[in-house]
Parts: sequence; structure tokens; C-alpha cells
Amino acid sequence: MTVPDPKKTKAWAVLTQHNQAMENVLLRNLFDQDSKRFNKFSWSHAGLTVDLSKQRLSDETLPLLLDLAETMQVADRRNAMFAGQPVNTTENRAALHVALRDPTDRAYFVNGEDVALQIKYARGRMLAFVKQVISGARTGHTGQAFDRVVNIGIGGSDLGPRCAVTALSDHSTSPLKVDFVATVDGTALQDVLAYADPHRTLFLICSKSFSTLETMTNAQEARRWLVAALGETAVADHFIALTAANSAAGIFGIPETNVFPLWDWVGGRYSLWSAIGLSIALGCGPEVFERILAGAHAMDRHFETAPLAENIPVLMGLVSVWNQDFWTASALSVLPYDHRLRLVPAHFQQLLMESNGKGVRADGKPVSARTAPIVFGGSGAESQHSFMQQIHQSPKVVPVEFIVALDGQGDPHRDILVANAFAQSEALMRGLLEDEIPRDSAKSAVPYKVCPGNRPSTTILLESLIPETFGALIALYEHRTFVEGTLWGLNPFDQWGVEFGKALASKLMTSLETGHVAAGHDSSTAGLLSAYLAQRGQNRTLPS
Ligand code: F6P
Repeated sequence: MTVPDPKKTKAWAVLTQHNQAMENVLLRNLFDQDSKRFNKFSWSHAGLTVDLSKQRLSDETLPLLLDLAETMQVADRRNAMFAGQPVNTTENRAALHVALRDPTDRAYFVNGEDVALQIKYARGRMLAFVKQVISGARTGHTGQAFDRVVNIGIGGSDLGPRCAVTALSDHSTSPLKVDFVATVDGTALQDVLAYADPHRTLFLICSKSFSTLETMTNAQEARRWLVAALGETAVADHFIALTAANSAAGIFGIPETNVFPLWDWVGGRYSLWSAIGLSIALGCGPEVFERILAGAHAMDRHFETAPLAENIPVLMGLVSVWNQDFWTASALSVLPYDHRLRLVPAHFQQLLMESNGKGVRADGKPVSARTAPIVFGGSGAESQHSFMQQIHQSPKVVPVEFIVALDGQGDPHRDILVANAFAQSEALMRGLLEDEIPRDSAKSAVPYKVCPGNRPSTTILLESLIPETFGALIALYEHRTFVEGTLWGLNPFDQWGVEFGKALASKLMTSLETGHVAAGHDSSTAGLLSAYLAQRGQNRTLPS
């Protein structure tokens, strides 16, 4: 397949000229000149309203950006994804996460086979299991009901489920406590096991490949802990595998009946809708899980059918390319002003950066565009007191995406939270110029108080944070990620860049296992290994 180099297209050239023409246009003036700007640049769907009016867009900009979408065949690539075509070009796979949340009888074909029925069967089996565990019909090895679920997984096998359980705990209908363990640092698992009752703890080994070193190391440690307490025969009652690698699960001692499958056409960072989301269904209840799917499906329908000019994922993707490539931003800050959404930035960081942080286009040719932003963020209220100083005054312009739930569902401080979110967005847009700064009698200039303004932000309003709007929000970011990748000519669904580090780590493990630094390392790596081995030699406590 050949993929056009976006920077060599006419649409890109026109946008480059337009960007030069926009250089001295101030957002504050665009607002002063058009009282209807908010209405003109805001779109709503599925309980979300997305306000793009504080992005550096004139009335001419979006039509020119839509020309780029046309040139890069965004609609065709979208349709190819929904049609189950191998849009994941390097692995020759489909990317059909949208099929996981479609409640209708629509067929979804992968390699000519309709996978809709197997999806529905797998979901039905998963939710039946959840109901059994929550009701106590399914117990641990000694007949006691489970009270704790430990999800052992990393990356897309952790971040999405973890952020969902955190976001929707208020809506949970489940009595189960869910813990997440991702890092291979053993203290994380130990912190969880310290409070866990082996009789009542259910472990989810959450790994599409069932080979990720961190996950399998933690899984073996958890297995040792359980066997020490209840014996080898207890493993089959307390371990569940969520994986596309059924045979590997069997080797671990997990019976087929405890394996909930996912498929290779579901990418890890796009997988919370699959069996990888078992911790969500167990932690929040099966109904909540189905409501999350429904919200995502509503956004899917919008993405698939809305005209590009009113298509929210398309518009967000276009604005991101406008900021990253034409205004040469390098980062993107995601700031939910809602404590329950505090983990969403971490999920979006993997989604955006692992999808579009690439060096070659989908046809293997070098990228010419600047590609994915460096995504960071956190809970907005706290971020105002940590890194927002830089975003207001540094010469590095960082686009911000604010996420605000209007209905605080009883939060007594919602007014303060919302006022701060909107004030940050206004301050970034308007700025505080020298002649607007109140002067004391000294009348001396106070340049250090100046905020340049003209800094772009998007505000995403959720009517209320409920399972449906959460699902729609996640799906919105999945689709805007796909749009951005398509505009840059990338394959958003592979992640070859992570393999090299993994291979080097296993090489270094050899030195650590033998206790000798192998020849051939650079002097830094050799020096670091030696320092560790020296320290370990003094302090090593052999595993019991
Ligand atoms: O970071 C690489 C990666 O493959 C992610 O894409 C994935 O979500 C994570 O590791 C975990 O992979 P698995 O689910 O196969 O353990």
C-alpha cells in the first residue's frame, strides 16, 4: 500500500500559508469580534459537549483542515476499520474494538468470518461469571465468597480498566474490592497481598500475550502466595486468565473454563471493552459494564455516520494536527477537573503516544510530520498548583484538553472546581498583558506578571459522569487517535518500538543472574550493572 506523505499534499501547503496568515491573530480578538464563537465551534453528542472555540481557528481554518482529512482519506480509512480490514498494516490485522460494544446484530467480518457471534458469546460468558462471583455462587477453594479481585496486568491490560473502576466506583453495584498491580516492583503486589485473604481473593491474569515479563512475574508470585496458603489444587479456583494466548494460560495451571479470550484484532490499549475489562464488570457490576459499552457505541455511531464537518473525533484529530504540526506544539496536557477521572490522562497517554508515536508511515516510509504529542496531565485542580505555571508563561505553548463533569452528583465543591477549570481555559486564551496589570504607585513594569495568552485549549463537558458518558469519552479519544494517525499517514495499531527495550532487558538479566557483567556492554551500562551487583552482593536476600 502507498500512503501519501501529508506534508507533500496541496492541502498541507494551503494550511501552511493559512497558518502564516494566522500568526498574529489573537484569540481574544476573535472572541471580541464574534459573540457567537462558542456556539459556532462547539459540538455535542452522547452526553458530551466539545468546545473547540478556544482553539486557534478562524472561520477559514476548519474547511482547510477538512480538505486535509479528505486528502488523507480519513473517511475511507474509518470505513475500512469498521469493515474489519487489516488497518493494522504491519501485523496484517483488523482493529475492531468497535465490534466489542455493538449491541445490534450487525456483522463484523475478520478474514471473511463474522466475529459478532463469538463476541456476544464471550461477553455473555464473562458477565455470567461476574454474576456468579458477585452473588457468591462462585466461591474460592474453601467455599468462601470472594471479597477482593486483584488484576495483574500492565499497559492496556491495566490503565483502561483501572481508570474505569476509579471513574465509576460511585455507580458500582458490586461488593467486590478491586486492586490493580502493574509494576514488576514486588512491593506493589506485596502491598496488596498484605490486606488480602487467600480464601477470598480472585486473581485476574490480564495479558493479551500471556508473556509480558512484568505480568507473568507478578502472576507467579501471586501463585506462590496462594499455594502457600491453600495448596496447589486451589490455583484453579482462584486464577482467571484474560488472554488471546489460551495455551499459555493452561501451562500456568489455569483450566480452559477459567480463560476468557480476546482476539488478536483487539489492540491492548483499545481492549477494555473485551475480557480485559473483566475487572470493571467485577468491580462495578455487569450492568455498569454494559452501560459503558452503550456509551462507547453511541460515539461509534457518531464517528461512523456524522459528516466530517460535524464529526467530533474528526474535528479533535484535525485540531491536534493543526497544533502539533502547524503551530509546532510538542505536548498535550489532559486535565480532568474531576477526582474520579484522575487516571484518565494516564490511559490517554498510552492511547495517543503508543498509537501515534511512530517513526515511519503505514507504508514503511519515514514520517515527515511531527506526529504524536507528548501527552501528560493529571487531576486539574492539583495541576494548577504544580505545572500550570509553565503552561501560562513559558515560550513553549502546550495545548490543553480540559474535561469537566457538569453534574457533580452531590459534590459540595463543584462550583469551585468548575470555576477554576473555566478560568484556566479563559486565562490561557485571553492572557494578561502588561497594560492590564494593576500597577502599584511605583508604576514600574512588571513583565514577570505577563501571561501571553493566545494559548489553545479544548473543553470537554460531560453532562454527568455516568457509565455511558465515560464510555463515550474513551471512545472519542480512541477515534481521535485514529484520525490523527491517519492524517499523519501512520498505523495507529502496532507498537514495535517497545520490543527493543524488552530484548535488552532480558540480555541484562543474564548478567544479573550470573552475577557477572557480560562483555560487550557500553561503559555506562557496565558501570551501572557493576554498581547494582556490588550493592546486591552486600544486601542480597535470597528468595525464601
Ligand atoms: O507496551 C507494550 C504492550 O504490548 C502494550 O501495547 C500492552 O497493552 C502491554 O504491553 C501489555 O501487553 P499484554 O496485554 O500482552 O500483557
